[in-house]
Amino acid sequence: MISLGLILFSSFLCHVAIAGRTCPKPDEVPFATVVPLKSVYEPGDQILYSCLPGYRSQLATRRFTCPLTGIWPVNTLRCQPRVCPFAGILENGAVRYTTFEYPNTISFACNTGFYLNGTNSVKCTVEGRWSQELPVCAPVTCPPPPVPNFAKLMVYKPSSGNSSVYRDTAGFECLPNYAMFGNDTITCTAHGNWTKLPECREVKCPFPSRPENGFVNYPAKQTLYYKDKVIYGCHDTYVLDGPEEVECSKLGNWSAQPSCKASCKLSVKKATVLYKGERVKLQEQFKNGMLHGEKVSFFCKNKEKKCSYTEETQCLDGTIEIPKCFKEHSSLAFWKTDASDVQPC
Ligand SMILES: *[C@@H]1O[C@H](CO)[C@@H](O)[C@H](O)[C@H]1NC(C)=O
Ligand SMILES: *[C@@H]1O[C@H](CO)[C@@H](O)[C@H](O)[C@H]1NC(C)=O
Ligand SMILES: *[C@@H]1O[C@H](CO)[C@@H](O)[C@H](O)[C@H]1NC(C)=O
Ligand SMILES: *[C@@H]1O[C@H](CO)[C@@H](O)[C@H](O)[C@H]1NC(C)=O
Ligand SMILES: *[C@@H]1O[C@H](CO)[C@@H](O)[C@H](O)[C@H]1NC(C)=O
Repeated sequence: MISLGLILFSSFLCHVAIAGRTCPKPDEVPFATVVPLKSVYEPGDQILYSCLPGYRSQLATRRFTCPLTGIWPVNTLRCQPRVCPFAGILENGAVRYTTFEYPNTISFACNTGFYLNGTNSVKCTVEGRWSQELPVCAPVTCPPPPVPNFAKLMVYKPSSGNSSVYRDTAGFECLPNYAMFGNDTITCTAHGNWTKLPECREVKCPFPSRPENGFVNYPAKQTLYYKDKVIYGCHDTYVLDGPEEVECSKLGNWSAQPSCKASCKLSVKKATVLYKGERVKLQEQFKNGMLHGEKVSFFCKNKEKKCSYTEETQCLDGTIEIPKCFKEHSSLAFWKTDASDVQPC
């Protein structure tokens, strides 16, 4: 009897000793779950930590048993996010990212002149793979350029097979008698289309009228067109005011309208003047009159200061104004000093 009681008693003691203290709720590990999760564990109870999908643990114990002491063993478990393959470089573009870890998303953009062939963002999945295939930046292309009516394609070098890429150009020229309105060069844009085409329009000019005291020569044609040229000239003592050669402009008028201007007869009989920086005798230099546009400077006297100065004048279409300060003396007044011989002021 006694021995049975002893056994029972000692087994009770033993039970108490084995039971020890209970364990509390285990520490939380970021990105991990614990099963079973309870607030109290008996000594001998087991728990198992598992990383959440998308996270992995390094070599570390994941299974723990509640000891008699009631204190969970030190837990070094760390759950780290899975890392997707490196995707930080996109040729002819850029990648926006913080890290390549689960559950991040990274995004892509291409440089100007390139477009994204593929998705513009991918996500790192729980398996540690990108959600979609990584995109590439493909060059934007323009189709062969359209040619405006009445124009010829002059410059065109497709740089990729039959198509052009961003910034490629094509140049046009209008057919004869046609003038170009707009830019003769078009450029392949980043949108894959060409800049605005120029226009070629037929341009006619009226026959030029003959200038008074002159003539105009033009091509023997029914009609005068853009870029046709005519030549002007004047009779004997007349001078052309304007260019000799005049061109039919794209506005349908002539680039200039030259006229013939008369030369000047001089009312002064004798004078020393400045002509092109040289002292010359007016009566000799301009025996046949002065041509339209020519300039001379007359000498005048400053009586108070007893010195000379010059005043310029010009022959304009048959008229020249002699400066008022100029005094022509009679050849008889030989004792008078000419202004041109007086020291300059
Ligand atoms: C775009 O990507 C697809 C799939 O990767 C490929 O077959 C195709 O050739 C690409 N196109 C260009 C213009 O790069
Ligand atoms: C360019 O276009 C021509 C005619 O359309 C075709 O015969 C040729 O194969 C094309 N070349 C390329 C490189 O695409
Ligand atoms: C014509 O276009 C070219 C390139 O597209 C540009 O460089 C040039 O300045 C333009 N010319 C004019 C007159 O607008
Ligand atoms: C080219 O395409 C862009 C975008 O579609 C558009 O805004 C532009 O007007 C186009 N340019 C021409 C010259 O057609
Ligand atoms: C040609 O015509 C345009 C528009 O009518 C005008 O602005 C221009 O001045 C003219 N040019 C000449 C040289 O007359």
